[in-house]
Amino acid sequence: MPVTWSWGPGVTELEIRSYEESDQEAVVNLWRECGLVTPWNDPVKDIGRKLRVQRDMFLVGSLGARLVATVMAGYEGHRGWINYLAVAADCRNRGFGRRLMQEAEGRLRAMGCPKINLQVRTSNTDVVKFYRAVGYSVDDVVSMGKRLEEDEGPAAESDAGS
Ligand SMILES: CC(C)(COP(=O)(O)OP(=O)(O)OC[C@H]1O[C@@H](n2cnc3c(N)ncnc32)[C@H](O)[C@@H]1OP(=O)(O)O)[C@@H](O)C(=O)NCCC(=O)NCCS
Repeated sequence: MPVTWSWGPGVTELEIRSYEESDQEAVVNLWRECGLVTPWNDPVKDIGRKLRVQRDMFLVGSLGARLVATVMAGYEGHRGWINYLAVAADCRNRGFGRRLMQEAEGRLRAMGCPKINLQVRTSNTDVVKFYRAVGYSVDDVVSMGKRLEEDEGPAAESDAGS
């Protein structure tokens, strides 16, 4: 049965804080709902890895008790990176994605990061309009990758991905 969320009158402000272990189930559910879980990325493993590296840069946004948004940021000394940006479908177009990006950018700037990179799956190019609206442009680069650890397993599921 679908759950109807109610965060009560007056709770319209997105509260942004770093991820805590008790957020795991809500975060993974949100990522699944937002189509961010791929067969090659195990979300629980991804969270575990992030908790070992700059865990404070993994942000969640809540409306009251309900977790409705995430962004995973990091800085490797040359570029900042953004991953797992998600806003629950019924909470979109209220500026929450922009707010999360601003918070992540502020934290990256405070670390001395001069530029942020991010990747968008070719199957998800609609989101490019969002990133353009919040100040990003398409770089003239070919994105390449090499897997060092396979995540494929029974937990994996997806409808799309890069
Ligand atoms: C992308 C996403 C995070 C945007 O969140 P959001 O809270 O709806 O975005 P905001 O309300 O902050 O929008 C900020 C701006 O982007 C624009 N925008 C947002 N989504 C857009 C879309 N799909 N197409 C065009 N413009 C869009 C808004 O109109 C707004 O512009 P404005 O400030 O000039 O009026 C959300 O759609 C999402 O979670 N998508 C699924 C997961 C995903 O694809 N993540 C990115 C992986 S790379």
